[in-house]
Amino acid sequence: TIQKVSTLLLFGATGDLSHRMLLPSLYGLDVDGLLPEKLKIVGTARSELDDDSFRASAVAALREHVPTDFFDHSRADQFAARLSYVQLDAKDKPGFAKLAERIDPADGLAIFLSTAPSLFEPTIQGLASAGLAGDEVRLALEKPLGSNLASSREINDAVAAEFPEERTFRIDHYLGKETVQNLLALRFANVAFEPLWNSAHIDHVQISVAETVGLEGRSDYYDGSGALRDMVQNHMLQLLALVAMEPPADFDATSIRDEKVKVLRSLRPIGPDDVPNHVVTGQFGAGAIGDQPVKAYAEELGRTSQTETFVALKAHVENWRWAGVPFYLRTGKRMPARKTEIFIQFKCIPHSIFAKRGAKTRPNKLVISIQPEENIRLMVMAKTPGLDREGIRLREVPLDVGLRDAFADTRRRIAYERLLLDLIDGDPTLFVRRDEVEAQWQWIDGVRASWEQTGLEPKVYGAGSWGPSAAIALTERDGVQWHD
Ligand code: BG6
Repeated sequence: TIQKVSTLLLFGATGDLSHRMLLPSLYGLDVDGLLPEKLKIVGTARSELDDDSFRASAVAALREHVPTDFFDHSRADQFAARLSYVQLDAKDKPGFAKLAERIDPADGLAIFLSTAPSLFEPTIQGLASAGLAGDEVRLALEKPLGSNLASSREINDAVAAEFPEERTFRIDHYLGKETVQNLLALRFANVAFEPLWNSAHIDHVQISVAETVGLEGRSDYYDGSGALRDMVQNHMLQLLALVAMEPPADFDATSIRDEKVKVLRSLRPIGPDDVPNHVVTGQFGAGAIGDQPVKAYAEELGRTSQTETFVALKAHVENWRWAGVPFYLRTGKRMPARKTEIFIQFKCIPHSIFAKRGAKTRPNKLVISIQPEENIRLMVMAKTPGLDREGIRLREVPLDVGLRDAFADTRRRIAYERLLLDLIDGDPTLFVRRDEVEAQWQWIDGVRASWEQTGLEPKVYGAGSWGPSAAIALTERDGVQWHD
């Protein structure tokens, strides 16, 4: 394997992801002096652009998407000098030959596919036919990697025909988030949590990803996908795997991914009989977020649709550590606030010496906030100050680790900065291995098949609410409340 990458080839270079995330991330790495000095970034897309107009559009994207205090015009121009552009239609083989004239894969090449998945196969074949798929080449793929197990296998097969697994980098941008990686530090760099991290001490786990945004102009993709495939199949199952996995033997790509895939394979299938008590889907109706009125999904889309913009699930990881512990997952568009959070509720204390003195205790909770805040908070019981002549009063108080404050002197990076740098360095630890993606799809396909079989339809919820009331009933049936 080669160590050095001298060209980054970006497919879909004029697209939304490239403008909002990839170019700003590469700019950030460049400003921090982290890109290989001679790295060239070659963008391709179908638009007719020349090098100069591509550079100008990249600088405009940086001005728009890089935080103002980090944007510097002359640094942006310096960065843009690395860029060049080749117009290319992925289905046009001779175009790849032209591209190959500009690139010598022997100098180290990393390719990033940020295009529609329908273009993955022709692109890979085009690359191979032009000699751009050899041993010195790494390939990164952006989601969606298929829309079910069969289509994901097809993509994986097409990739595997030209790129071995160790040179395939499947992106799940949640793994590039600092707080997500912090889960591993919390669990495996501390002694305090791991002994309690099991069904003997944990009552249940909640994973929530709430978004305020709606379709964001991606209706074609989103309406064909829905919340389950857009968010649960990838990001949320990765979060679940990191929460539930066994301690890996080492901090390396194989050890970590081996442990994650074991969790994914231990997910109990949700069959048709389980649907009523384990699955709730919803679609946002008209409403308001804050004081902003918001249109209903169907109106935003321009037609009626059965696609879910919200899903709540009760999942189980069937293994020794987690037997009997529900994992409640919930994600939705047009929720009242943007919030990604892992919430772990411990069991009640076995006996309260305070009960006879009138004091109530509550179970400990660990709240790992991923966004917008980045902090870890353990809720513990403390005595309320006082002389206690009327009885003891206990109150829940937070032990707080504000990660942003604790590390205030470090710049907040975009998740893609980490992932692009790892791609350039050739470190696949934070990328998703084929067996993981396929285990994820396998479980998700089962959930969908069961809900289709039972005729489950999305319930309407008002935009700006926490989803349909059935989602509240899903946990309340078990005596559990969502942590809002
Ligand atoms: C993407 C989904 O993978 O993740 C989007 O396709 C979603 O629908 C986005 O909005 C959320 O990412 P983040 O980083 O904003 O939580």
